Amino acid sequence: MTADDERENSPGGYGTPEDDQGFYASYESKEILGSGLASTVRRCIEKGSGASFAVKIVDVSTEKQSDKDARRLYEETISEVKILRQLAGHPSIIAIHDFFETPSFLFTVFEMAPKGELFDQLNATVTLTEKKAKRLMKQLFEGVKYMHENRIVHRDLKLENILCIDDERIVISDFGFAMILPDEKLLKDLCGTPGYLAPETLRCQMYEDAKGYGLEVDQWALGVILYTFLAGYAPFYHRRQLMMMRLIQEGRFEFRREQWDSITSECKELVSLLLTVDVAKRITAAEALRHPWMAGVGEAVVIEQRKTRKSDKRRLFRHAIIWVRFFIRLSNYRKFSQVIDRDAVKKRPFRDREIRHEAESAMFCVYGHWVNRGFHYSRDMLFANAPRPKHKREATVQSG
Ligand SMILES: Nc1ncnc2c1ncn2[C@@H]1O[C@H](COP(=O)(O)OP(=O)(O)O)[C@@H](O)[C@H]1O
Ligand SMILES: [Mg+2]
Repeated sequence: MTADDERENSPGGYGTPEDDQGFYASYESKEILGSGLASTVRRCIEKGSGASFAVKIVDVSTEKQSDKDARRLYEETISEVKILRQLAGHPSIIAIHDFFETPSFLFTVFEMAPKGELFDQLNATVTLTEKKAKRLMKQLFEGVKYMHENRIVHRDLKLENILCIDDERIVISDFGFAMILPDEKLLKDLCGTPGYLAPETLRCQMYEDAKGYGLEVDQWALGVILYTFLAGYAPFYHRRQLMMMRLIQEGRFEFRREQWDSITSECKELVSLLLTVDVAKRITAAEALRHPWMAGVGEAVVIEQRKTRKSDKRRLFRHAIIWVRFFIRLSNYRKFSQVIDRDAVKKRPFRDREIRHEAESAMFCVYGHWVNRGFHYSRDMLFANAPRPKHKREATVQSG
């Protein structure tokens, strides 16, 4: 049951378009952008300005959930609003615009991220170039640096919680698990998403005397994100979750040759510094911004302009090379274009690159990670993973 369904079922206690106060007095609600277990995010239009925003509607009624769950959701949302107000103004953090409360529902109005989740953007391209990854990581490091300076830990950094404003600008969102950490205080509770969990978070679940975890869990998650940008699959994955937890605890991941041979050693070094098990040695977001791999991000365009002005001859030469390359590719394309043999595809579907690419994209989209990409394809892996909530919901609607 989503907040949206609830609206149809319980007219009382919920702000309606006729209200002269509350959310519906100022906004017109539009299509669904995403939904979680107890929340729905919709596009909405501010009546006064005509501008688009995104509203997260959280169901805090106790009709369909226990008092405890309703209370927890209420507290998480209020905390998210408080934290986002504290962080307001940073370009890498989603801006909060408005907040409304009724006895059954909470409405948080955010700046609109028209390009949706980074997860879906990455799914379309599979991997990113180092140059692009650098530009995105710079924004993430800056956002996390700012959060950490404010003693705020996010605890659920992942591709689904990073939203795209346009092709270049991204923002960190979903501060539902975020916390303000007083100096020296450590946390113990388990929250986050399996593939992104830091070893110290897992240790708290296994040992009574574990120390707890702090801000550094966000740096670990950024390491998982950077690795995924370049490899197209997550650094820690095993179809048996227990094994996966072990890989994380030991910080055991590899730079497989197929994907990582062409990646610079500075980049691999930064991944390793982020995915460092020893919390004291793990690189901070502020330090990562000064790492050699990050040098010169954002200056590329300026340098390019300067160069072209310097020498027109060089520009002409470069254009000539591009044209020559284009004609070589064109002739190769004719030579290599081939008809796919249907029987051969039936026997070994993953042999064809195009088909493999499509299949991998579909798996990534449904399960949130590659299903042993580029390795052996194993069907039981598909069933070992739960689809993401938005696909679960579609599946239920279709079958019901
Ligand atoms: N500001 C926004 N602009 C566009 N889409 C959004 C926005 N906020 C959330 N969404 C969509 O809604 C989904 C769920 O929002 P999120 O805040 O992550 O809630 P949950 O706690 O349910 O994960 C996001 O993953 C995204 O697809
Ligand atoms: Mg989320």
